Formats: sequence, C-alpha cells, structure tokens
Amino acid sequence: MLKHTMLISEDQLQRRVAELAETLNREFANTTIDIICVLTGAVFFATDVMRMLTMPTRLNFVKVSSYDSGSESSGTVNLHFSSAIDLQGRTVILFEDILDTGITLDYLLKHLREKNPQALKVCVLLDKPERRKIDLQPDYIGFQIPDEFVIGYGLDYQELGRNLKYIAVLDPSEYRH
Ligand code: IMP
Ligand code: MG
Repeated sequence: MLKHTMLISEDQLQRRVAELAETLNREFANTTIDIICVLTGAVFFATDVMRMLTMPTRLNFVKVSSYDSGSESSGTVNLHFSSAIDLQGRTVILFEDILDTGITLDYLLKHLREKNPQALKVCVLLDKPERRKIDLQPDYIGFQIPDEFVIGYGLDYQELGRNLKYIAVLDPSEYRH
C-alpha cells in the first residue's frame, strides 16, 4: 500500500455526500437529470451521491486523460464518451473527483456546451484552489483541500490507492525517487 496520511475520514465523506445529495434533491426536484461521471476517479463519489437522489436520473461516463502517469499535468487532454449521448435540452451535472489546475474541466465543459444542454452544472468532490491555472468555479464542492497530492475514495496515484475508504495525502517519498 502507498504510504499516506488520512485527510478526510470515511464518516466526513459520507456526511458530505448526503448533504450534497440533499441539495441536489432540493434544487432539481421533479427534473430529470443526466449525471456525467468523469472516469475513473469520480466513480465512487458520483455513484454514492446518485443512490441518494430522488429525481429521475441517467448515468453516463466520460474518460479524460490529462495526466501522463505521475503527479503533474501534461497539459494535453483527450475525451472518450462511454456511449454516444444526446444532451440537447438536458439538465446535466458533471461529476469530477478533483479540480486542480482546471485544464481538464475547462476542456470538458467547452466540449459539453457544444451539445446544447439546457443546464450544465459541475460537482467536484475536492477543490485545490491554490493550483488553479484557469478561472473556474464549480457549482457544488465537497471539500476544499490544500496543495497536496491525495489518494483514496476513487483518487489514484499511478492507478493505485483508489480503494481507500478515506481521502489521504500521499507521502512525497512515493513520488520523489
Ligand atoms: P486538472 O486538469 O489539473 O484540474 O487535473 C484534474 C485531474 O487531475 C483530476 O481529474 C485528477 O485525475 C488529477 N489530479 C489532480 N490532483 C490530484 C490529486 O491530488 N490526486 C489524484 N489525482 C489528481
Ligand atoms: Mg480524474
């Protein structure tokens, strides 16, 4: 297991998930929504929130690759939808694991706007505001965190660490070789 220190406990995560679901249930009562979950990191978060939603809800996935393998953004982004989705006139909520520089989300939002949704909202589990390169403000945020590389609850370092039940700071000894 990667060396790490707990930052956000399982309890804190589940409490925040319930609060976010409550907010969405209030704001989108009687509206059919399309969740777009950014693979792979947001899967735990998006599906945990989704099972507490009470309105009619669709689930779609998009795969984005912006990080080559390590902990620094490469700046280039590629998009792959799990299926051809028609978002024309839909109420879309994009679920992302973490907002860091903003490069990935910015690219994704530009692409999704071209599909003419009626509304396009962004829900991120984690926000690292200190690292922002593109000015972006998500509609819903789980937690703001300091500029540290984190793993757990879906977030990975080189594809490992996703299965932790909590969010943890990765020990720098894991990537400073
Ligand atoms: P951005 O394009 O710099 O905003 O990067 C966003 C993406 O980078 C996220 O979807 C994550 O996959 C990845 N990322 C950024 N920071 C972290 C982190 O601390 N832990 C794990 N993945 C991260
Ligand atoms: Mg990701």
